[in-house]
Amino acid sequence: TTGGSDDQKRRAAERAADLVSAGETVGLGTGSTAAFAIRALGRAVEAGDLDGVRGVATSFASRQLARESGVPLLDLDEVEALDIAIDGADQVDSAGHLIKGGGAAHAREKVVDAAADRFVVVADPSKVAETLDRAVPLEVLPAARTLVSAGVEDLGGDPVLRTAERKDGPVVTDNGNLVLDCDFGELSDPESLAADLSATPGVVEHGLFVGLADEVHVGTADGVDVRTY
Ligand code: A5P
Repeated sequence: TTGGSDDQKRRAAERAADLVSAGETVGLGTGSTAAFAIRALGRAVEAGDLDGVRGVATSFASRQLARESGVPLLDLDEVEALDIAIDGADQVDSAGHLIKGGGAAHAREKVVDAAADRFVVVADPSKVAETLDRAVPLEVLPAARTLVSAGVEDLGGDPVLRTAERKDGPVVTDNGNLVLDCDFGELSDPESLAADLSATPGVVEHGLFVGLADEVHVGTADGVDVRTY
């Protein structure tokens, strides 16, 4: 959806898909970069290289793409553990902390990514920043929108209800909730902001992924820059 080139995204995603072994349960992320990984997994399944692999989708869109690509699926609620998850990000800082939720899928993404033994982020160079400074998406209970907005302002943020271009009214998530994009400026302490947002009633999930990524694969002009945490 943002920034870098398709080649950079594809390089990062295909390298990450190579990490998956036969028999593994794989979290399938959401967004244009993770989509390259899902397609690569589908090709490997079709070639007979990934017997017994099962994908766990993080959104309606990733489930749909997995089906089209031939990746066998498990429902999230029948999974007790995941071997690996491959997912994109909207921004990643030098410590491997992430902002996610540009596709409004961060609640399920966090469940899947956090449960994986190995969480691999795939990104292009436009996502990389020293310090996180993009708006933080919050998935909120519709009836709590006004109170959550006030709480965000108390925390120093500026909440904006997400709307869709081709729809009158707000974006509704796969879970039936609303999204507030909350600008806090530069996040000097993402860990404490994450704790404050998690402690706000009515916030179903926020898009700060602090300390969850095990590896970040950044596709470049001629290769993949791998950072481990
Ligand atoms: C979905 O809610 C987000 O967390 C995505 O993972 C993020 O928007 C990455 O998308 P792109 O790979 O298309 O930038």
